[in-house]
Amino acid sequence: MAKPKIIVVFESYHHHNTETIARIIVQRLQADLYKTEQIDPTILTEYEVIGIGTGIYYSKPHEKIQSFLKNLPHLTGLKSFLFTTSGCGNNAYIQSIFTKIVSEMEQKGLQVIDCLSVKGRDTFGPYKLLGGINKGHPDLKDLYNAELFAHKILSVL
Ligand SMILES: Cc1cc2nc3c(=O)[nH]c(=O)nc-3n(C[C@H](O)[C@H](O)[C@H](O)COP(=O)(O)O)c2cc1C
Repeated sequence: MAKPKIIVVFESYHHHNTETIARIIVQRLQADLYKTEQIDPTILTEYEVIGIGTGIYYSKPHEKIQSFLKNLPHLTGLKSFLFTTSGCGNNAYIQSIFTKIVSEMEQKGLQVIDCLSVKGRDTFGPYKLLGGINKGHPDLKDLYNAELFAHKILSVL
């Protein structure tokens, strides 16, 4: 069976944590990787799967990911996945943010297969004074988990 065409759209700037995870995932999936401003949403019809990756800022995805999702045409049945990096990593708070993003994705007709949440180095605001949190993250284990996540995505396509 032919390999499905996969695109990953991401935003990442604080410590490029999300970009690090995105690169692992696209390598495993042999996917195309773009930042939001590099793509015209009409090209999405060429793909069978779209991955969205973003850091979490003020409890939300990057504002460019927010407007990307808002302006996305209806893409019924396009398979999709989501990954984030954040100071919190993975807890109930991040799960509640996932629920909101997934709901927006589903409103655009995307069929969300799976989500991955990764701890990222965070030196924002008061954390800067304390030397930051999550030093070394994403670490080797995080990269391995990203690899496993991509593997899992491939297995259900
Ligand atoms: C302006 C700003 C706001 C942030 N707000 C949150 C937040 O609300 N919750 C959280 O868990 N982490 C927060 N963080 C930490 C980032 O989510 C974390 O560092 C993430 O890995 C950044 O991704 P990036 O390096 O790909 O940009 C914030 C970081 C910045 C710079």
